[in-house]
Amino acid sequence: MLILFAPKETDAGETRASVTPDSIRRFVKAGAEVMVEADAGKGSMISDADYVEAGAKVVDRDAGFTAADVVLKLNPPSTEEVGKIQSGSTLVSFVYPTVNPELVTQLTERKISVLAMESVPRITRAQKMDALSSQANLAGYKAVLQAADTLPKIFPMMMTAAGTIQPAKVVILGAGVAGLQAVATAKRLGAVVEVSDVRPAVKEQVESLGGKFIDVPTDEAMEGAGGYAKEQSEDFLRRQREIVRKRITEADVVITTAAIPGKPAPMLVPEDTVRDMKQGSVIVDLAVETGGNCELSEAGKIVEAHGVTIIGREKVPSLVPVNATEVYARNVVNLLGDMIKDGELVFDLEDEVVDGALIVHEGAPRGAAAGGN
Ligand code: NAI
Repeated sequence: MLILFAPKETDAGETRASVTPDSIRRFVKAGAEVMVEADAGKGSMISDADYVEAGAKVVDRDAGFTAADVVLKLNPPSTEEVGKIQSGSTLVSFVYPTVNPELVTQLTERKISVLAMESVPRITRAQKMDALSSQANLAGYKAVLQAADTLPKIFPMMMTAAGTIQPAKVVILGAGVAGLQAVATAKRLGAVVEVSDVRPAVKEQVESLGGKFIDVPTDEAMEGAGGYAKEQSEDFLRRQREIVRKRITEADVVITTAAIPGKPAPMLVPEDTVRDMKQGSVIVDLAVETGGNCELSEAGKIVEAHGVTIIGREKVPSLVPVNATEVYARNVVNLLGDMIKDGELVFDLEDEVVDGALIVHEGAPRGAAAGGN
């Protein structure tokens, strides 16, 4: 029988897990046996007893790695973990091969097959397996709450007996999955929201959520493969920084999510813009893990500069682990569930989803790990 093992995530500050009782029930139904490391769900408020009740066996780390045909993780595995994954078995996890080339080499040398969650193609059929979106969506929501909690004023307009309180102004840079959720959340809290993005399709999405779109005129083609943004020219970025600068200096909150797959995040908020921002205003930089959209943000830190608080928290979805684990585990079981046939994991390379996600197989890197998309 196919044995799946979910080890406890070990990255600092990580609270999420790769399985839930619900996903375990679905794996068991599909004919797999599931092992979970003791305490793996603790950070997501799932007890070992909950896992056992769903049909899993709670084991210690080494026993799980030794028995597993498939290891289910969330963060890219550490060197210690790669050493424990059995040769010939399969890993399912975020991997980010372009920023972790050594990890790919180690996994390839150990002949581990790797299904990388960030490489699941973003096609309609695979939306239910799209862990980038499921996590970014929660990050966008939580970024707004972090800002609202730090800001020395409220978001909504209030008509009070003591007069009218004006609503907070929020500028959002980058309106992909995280940014659009940030627009919706900031609007729900009553803020006035302005947005900049480079992909033409975004304007209508922003306006339908009640945000105002900041136009940066250009002749450059901004959309690349897979509907993602292409890297912009320095000339475009300079003009964009000039145009958004005025909005940012009038804003109370700036949420930045701008990213280009496989490249450093574009720098959109330089120090001189921060210097001209209002005292007490807040920047939440969700792009901090790929270099940040603000010149002053620091990964994992809250920086105070020129009277502005710049929040560079990493792994923001792990601040809402109950939901983040719930949706990640669903993404994983939706991907793997279809691949389990007669108690075995079958790699159908004719399947666009499997073909895209499988970045190491039979001792060779492929797709995103071999320099493809
Ligand atoms: P992302 O995390 O790579 O980028 C975030 C946002 O930053 C994007 O909207 C991008 O256009 C924007 N950006 C890049 N450079 C910028 C700049 N200089 N200024 C302002 N914004 C900038 O993207 P994410 O959120 O992972 O997905 C982006 C898009 O991918 C989606 O909006 C959608 O079109 C597509 N997608 C399709 C799905 C599907 O059909 N299944 C599922 C999810 C995403």
